[in-house]
Amino acid sequence: MFAFRDKRCRPLISAEAIAAKVAEMGRAITHDYAACGEDLVLIAVMKGSVVFLSDLARHIDLPVTMELIGIASYGDSTKSSGVVQITADLTRPIAGKHVIICEDIVDTGLTVAYLLDNLGTRKPKSVKVAALLHKPERSIQPVPIQYLGFTIPNHFVVGYGLDYAQRYRNLPFIGLLEPEPGAPD
Ligand code: IMP
Ligand code: MG
Repeated sequence: MFAFRDKRCRPLISAEAIAAKVAEMGRAITHDYAACGEDLVLIAVMKGSVVFLSDLARHIDLPVTMELIGIASYGDSTKSSGVVQITADLTRPIAGKHVIICEDIVDTGLTVAYLLDNLGTRKPKSVKVAALLHKPERSIQPVPIQYLGFTIPNHFVVGYGLDYAQRYRNLPFIGLLEPEPGAPD
């Protein structure tokens, strides 16, 4: 039992439901890439997607390599402005590789749209998107998500890698974070 609790955080998706869904996503990826015959590159978007990547990768029964990419999206702690910049780049080229971008959440879609453009210029064989969560109500830039865990309502969520002001990433479940009393929208 996880002892850490916070009264502002209400459980939305249990650790068990996440585990079952991530296993299902891993099986789907295993099935779809079985005939590729070469290493698949899984790219996690730091820091939030690291937890998702580590669980997802262990359900992909194929040779894979893993990379991290750091993205800064400017805005306040609960809203992105859409101005995106790479803060830590891949360690290896992806030319000729099949790539899956692993995202914790697709919110406005701006981060994934930027990554699809940026990684696309590096001549990969294919680029697809696996996202644990999607908030369609917040979409500004629609992006294709080939592997999706859960569609969630327009609430700020934390846990399983997702943070608020760098906290809550270690919660094993996804929770809804209530705004601080008196906080601006
Ligand atoms: P975008 O708006 O789709 O570009 O999402 C940018 C990033 O904002 C995501 O990868 C998350 O790291 C973060 N983010 C968006 N919504 C939430 C949320 O509800 N909780 C925590 N982080 C979020
Ligand atoms: Mg993220």
